[in-house]
Amino acid sequence: MCGIIGCVGRGDETLDTLVHGLSKLEYRGYDSAGVAMSGDRLSLCKKSGKIDDLREALSKTSLSGSVGIGHTRWSTHGPPTDANSHPHQDCKGDVAVVHNGIIENYQSLRDELVAAGHTFTSDTDTEVVPHLIEDALADGADPEAAVRRAIAQLEGSYAIAAVVAGTDAIFAARHDSPLVLGLDGGATYLASDVPAFRDFTDKVVYLSDGEFARLDASGWEVTDSDGVRVEKDVDTVEWDPEETGKSGYDHFMLKEIHEQPRALRQCLRERVDEMAGAVDLDDLGDLSPTGVQFVACGTSYHAALYGAQLFREAGIPAQAFLASEYATSVPPIGDALVVGVTQSGETADTLSALRAAQKRGARTLVVTNVVGSTAARECDHAFYIRAGPEIGVAASKTFSSQLAALNLLTLGMTNSDDAREVINGLRELPGDLQRVLDESRAEEVAEMYTDAGAYFFIGRGLQFPVALEGALKMKEITYKHAEGFAAGELKHGPLALVTSETPVFAVVIGDDEKARKTVGNVKEVEARDAPVVAITDGQTDVHRYADHVLEVPETHERAAAVLANAHLQLLSYYTAAKLGRNIDKPRNLAKSVTVE
Ligand code: AGP
Repeated sequence: MCGIIGCVGRGDETLDTLVHGLSKLEYRGYDSAGVAMSGDRLSLCKKSGKIDDLREALSKTSLSGSVGIGHTRWSTHGPPTDANSHPHQDCKGDVAVVHNGIIENYQSLRDELVAAGHTFTSDTDTEVVPHLIEDALADGADPEAAVRRAIAQLEGSYAIAAVVAGTDAIFAARHDSPLVLGLDGGATYLASDVPAFRDFTDKVVYLSDGEFARLDASGWEVTDSDGVRVEKDVDTVEWDPEETGKSGYDHFMLKEIHEQPRALRQCLRERVDEMAGAVDLDDLGDLSPTGVQFVACGTSYHAALYGAQLFREAGIPAQAFLASEYATSVPPIGDALVVGVTQSGETADTLSALRAAQKRGARTLVVTNVVGSTAARECDHAFYIRAGPEIGVAASKTFSSQLAALNLLTLGMTNSDDAREVINGLRELPGDLQRVLDESRAEEVAEMYTDAGAYFFIGRGLQFPVALEGALKMKEITYKHAEGFAAGELKHGPLALVTSETPVFAVVIGDDEKARKTVGNVKEVEARDAPVVAITDGQTDVHRYADHVLEVPETHERAAAVLANAHLQLLSYYTAAKLGRNIDKPRNLAKSVTVE
């Protein structure tokens, strides 16, 4: 996944605006970056590495102009070298293009272009685009027509922005990859995501698949693929620019972990009627599903596993699928509701799964954080988790808000016997979570096990997805081996891995049969000399077998899952910090993965 920025109308500040936008988009990809400014001739600077490397390279050049595009890259075709960085150009240097996505027919286009005499300088799929534009210009097309002609030849997913020498305009198009315009009176912006220009404006226009945009000094226009003008709604984003800064925290991830109480309040606001013991699901209407199939990836898949349990507890057959597996072998859907869980709303695997379900006539709903995202626009219904922007690549506050939102969905769509108890747990959750964050001893525990050979996480029922999530977070930001297991599965194989070098983190909530069985599993690992850290509300005697206890207040087990997870987030965070990892931008990862 990559990040695109474009800007027209900020005069001498254009270059600074582009670089600022790229720094805000670095979470989308961070192995190289570049900018191109349009004037009589194009000037361009690009560099492998981080935005700071680009800044340094720019300080040795004299790029200027009032129209420009920029890009931060996460490699899909070709290694992260200067040559493979965007923008890419045609043979003459009159066209510059930035691209997010994958052009599936690039090899055949490249072969044809090479046969026609074009010279390529990179390994990327993107480079075919400026050469196609060059061909169209050579045939006499005007710049806009030339870009349109090039776009019409592409197959695959793309968000593309192009500038042409001698034309004070940016041309852009999207298919299966996000693009949004920002409107600021005199200036117009174009980006993969709103944070890129949120410091300048809160007025946005989301482009849809197949649409084409032209930005120039006179403003902006969106047309369809035939050139017919499309009337677009101008939306106002509701979050503040400060929400995308670090506010004094060392990392976005730590800031976002600490933002969770507020994010949860936002998620629950005006949706819960405590007096009536009921929830109001915005304008979703009466969906009354007879079955639910969840599709999701990574952390969102763990939230989906939790959501499926909630529906099953309410008597509705429900299952969670890894989105990347769902589309390859779509299960019988019947009249089940297919629910995508995706914080970004842009994850290619999840979009494919939702589309596969739609093709079979299924009703779809997405639980997402991003208004105007592709999933939000393509699904029949969208339910927003309202967590605010999340910049750290490792999902933290969006996971908690997904769990809260999935509770609301279940309560709103089913008849749960214990609706009042759940609502009470949710009402208390922001305050309980604040206490957990304030008092957590996770940092001390992290310090003791920084050198561990591997980390294991166990839990049962609703605490099983928490164990999986604890392990994913640990892997993602510490680069160390970590696995999450259903507590009962340990003895079916993984127990062979357990030694005195492998701390086991056990989530034990309540004192029901599930909790007591998990305590039994804790005894099994304790007997193998493994250090044990219990994350518990203290209702069982698990503390007797644990080396350390991370406490959560007694509450509904659904809410306790969010509280237990907060300790595990902090544990991973502090382990990664002690190891000196790049916490907000772990190696090889991107915030949202728009390729399959
Ligand atoms: C979470 O920490 C990961 N970065 C990753 O697993 C993520 O949850 C997954 O890629 C799904 O993203 P989405 O929620 O935007 O669809």
